[in-house]
Amino acid sequence: MDVIRVEGGHSVTGTVRVEGAKNSALKLMAATIMAPGVTTLTNVPNIADVHVMGKVLKNIGARIEVVNVHELKIDTSDVDSWETPYHLVAQMRASTAVLGPLLSRFGRAVVAMPGGCNIGARKIDMHILGLEALGVEFKVDHGNIYASAPNGLVGDTVTLSFASVGATENLMMASVFAKGTTTIDNAAREPEIVDLANLLNEMGAKVRGAGSPVIEVEGVSELHPVTHEVVGDRIEAGTFLAVGALTGEPVRVTGFAPSHLGLVLKKFEQMGATVERGARECSVWRDRPLLPTDIQTLPFPGFPTDMQAQTMCLLALAKGSCIITENVFENRFMFASELSRMGADIVIEGHHAIVHGVDGFSGAQVRSPDLRGGAALVMAGLVADGVTTVSDIHHIDRGYEGFVEKLASLGAKIERATVPDEEDVEGF
Ligand code: EPZ
Repeated sequence: MDVIRVEGGHSVTGTVRVEGAKNSALKLMAATIMAPGVTTLTNVPNIADVHVMGKVLKNIGARIEVVNVHELKIDTSDVDSWETPYHLVAQMRASTAVLGPLLSRFGRAVVAMPGGCNIGARKIDMHILGLEALGVEFKVDHGNIYASAPNGLVGDTVTLSFASVGATENLMMASVFAKGTTTIDNAAREPEIVDLANLLNEMGAKVRGAGSPVIEVEGVSELHPVTHEVVGDRIEAGTFLAVGALTGEPVRVTGFAPSHLGLVLKKFEQMGATVERGARECSVWRDRPLLPTDIQTLPFPGFPTDMQAQTMCLLALAKGSCIITENVFENRFMFASELSRMGADIVIEGHHAIVHGVDGFSGAQVRSPDLRGGAALVMAGLVADGVTTVSDIHHIDRGYEGFVEKLASLGAKIERATVPDEEDVEGF
């Protein structure tokens, strides 16, 4: 199996450029279904999840030309199926992002019901409730969701019970061709939502209010293919900036908008780091002890849950105690138990993690519980005493392009290695 080995105590400083945002690129790819022809997406991250979404699109008849690893030409002229099979949804639940586009194009869709994942049940009840309000009828049978809008989709007002990113995106895409106007209230406001709305409007849609809690979509009759650059990945950027706050030496990140990390950067400053913001870059370093601060994860512009593990890694070394409250996912503290193997002192009480700062980590063998937890374990290894070996790194490959290479370019002593799977010890 593949592992990442990192030796702590080495200077880690310099500049990295982040890729396009995973959590935008996947939905932009799905949106091409609604614009028959060749859409070119640039600044696409070369990550496993993008490859899976490519398979999802090819499975329904799209053709994809890889101009280079960061530029895709997606031809959806001959898309002639509306079914997304279980094996693809099981690989990546974000495959459900084709639900809205397929309903828009065909008036029907068959998508495997996504299973849960390591961080939670990941239901899609809000997607279904919202789409039903637009006239979609659902049947769930043998693990598949059968969606159809026999009379076409009709605009209406949908109020989300939680500002769900995925539900906002599916509703936005499903309402593009709906009769009349759709209002999505309590909509998610993430920068990736704005990027998707920008793409749709470039294609000829009429989406207003993206980035605010109320999004209005006025139905149009067709969309046309375009060329669009994926927005910079604020979470990849936040991960590398957290390294600057962790080791203390300056890390400069380019290729994203610091305004997309507003609260995260403010929290880094509260923790004793220095933050230098530019228009499309940011630098973080620290020349005083790490200080504790409480964190509550919330939908944007609240503190992003995708930065929770990376920030916990910092707080685990702060001079004092603090509380991290995870309000978005029900099971996103598994990273804490792995970090405790490296010497962290963290007590989990339901949605709260009480973090007592310790003086340092010790290198250990740890398993990546999910995408962001895996990245945070590698981060911890950068400052741990000795060598840390992180396994289950396929999680990291889903969302970080060249994670090892980028850290090595900053001076980290880090390598990807293949080790024999743990020997199966014979039972007695
Ligand atoms: C997106 O997931 C991101 N994934 C997640 O990033 C991110 O953590 C999340 O938004 C929140 O920002 C992609 O964009 C591919 P939600 P999504 O719908 O759309 C519950 C990463 O590490 N919920 O906002 O699934 C849900 O279970 C990943 O890059 C329902 O109960 O997030 C979760 O607890 C992890 N019913 C909460 O709401 C629904 O119908 C937020 O989910 C929909 C969601």
